[in-house]
Amino acid sequence: MSDLYTHARSAADHLLAQTKHRPKLGIILGSGLGDFANSVEDAVAVPYSEIPHFPQSTVEGHSGRMVLGTIAGVPVAVMQGRVHAYEGYRMDEVTFPARVLGLMGVQTLIVTNAAGGIRADFAPGSIVGISDHINLTGTNAALGRNEPRFAVTQGSGLRFFDMTTAYTPRLLQLAQETAQQHGWSMQTGVYIAVLGPSYETPAEIRAFRTLGADLVGMSTVHEVIVARHMGMEVLGLSLVTNAAAGVTSESIDHSEVMEHGKHAAERFSALLTAIIPKAVTE
Ligand code: 6GU
Repeated sequence: MSDLYTHARSAADHLLAQTKHRPKLGIILGSGLGDFANSVEDAVAVPYSEIPHFPQSTVEGHSGRMVLGTIAGVPVAVMQGRVHAYEGYRMDEVTFPARVLGLMGVQTLIVTNAAGGIRADFAPGSIVGISDHINLTGTNAALGRNEPRFAVTQGSGLRFFDMTTAYTPRLLQLAQETAQQHGWSMQTGVYIAVLGPSYETPAEIRAFRTLGADLVGMSTVHEVIVARHMGMEVLGLSLVTNAAAGVTSESIDHSEVMEHGKHAAERFSALLTAIIPKAVTE
């Protein structure tokens, strides 16, 4: 744990040595959304297994590699695959890649995931902009001794840090406007994170709805917490792959989750490509 910064620094330096590009924007691709990494231009793909200290994913549909290059002229670092706490990884391992993105110079992070829809009008296949989250995983990614050297912007890297605008309002609005220009209306919602790997019971989903949640998943919040600790701006996008338990009479299976990812991937990619050049600030 005390070596976390050193390890992240060496992973970042290793990656930067593979490319002439200096990523300004990072993207973490969720289940079934990995294909977007193929649209990176002038790309170098580095398998996670070759990056010092990088955690390896064990789940189908999360092939692990970091793709460095440009999209619409913006230097990017795209993560194809992530590790989850339900695989048994510690918080510092789950969020190690987000730390590395920050240390590579990324100031804008786009975090994507496949999620269950709690709201009845979030049909499978909808792309939803995350407006806020509820971390119900029982842990926090910023646990442990504070490391101020993780700050990427002035005033960040604090022991106690603000989460009032964890999801940068400007980026959420940009995503909505961009979706609209493509002829879709993008709704926004509150993402609740659980540990998993079991999906929820209908009683849990009813409870989460009462708590104010619109979407449920097993990722994202930890990465967003470290991104905010470091001072990165965040855009969160969920692909609704299925209705959460009890919302419909359907049961939930992972292959269905993956199938919807594939189906909506093209729309998701078009949206990301259009957002990226407008998301970065000088
Ligand atoms: Cl219904 N629950 C959780 N926790 N994660 C999901 C999901 C549901 N659907 C896709 N991912």
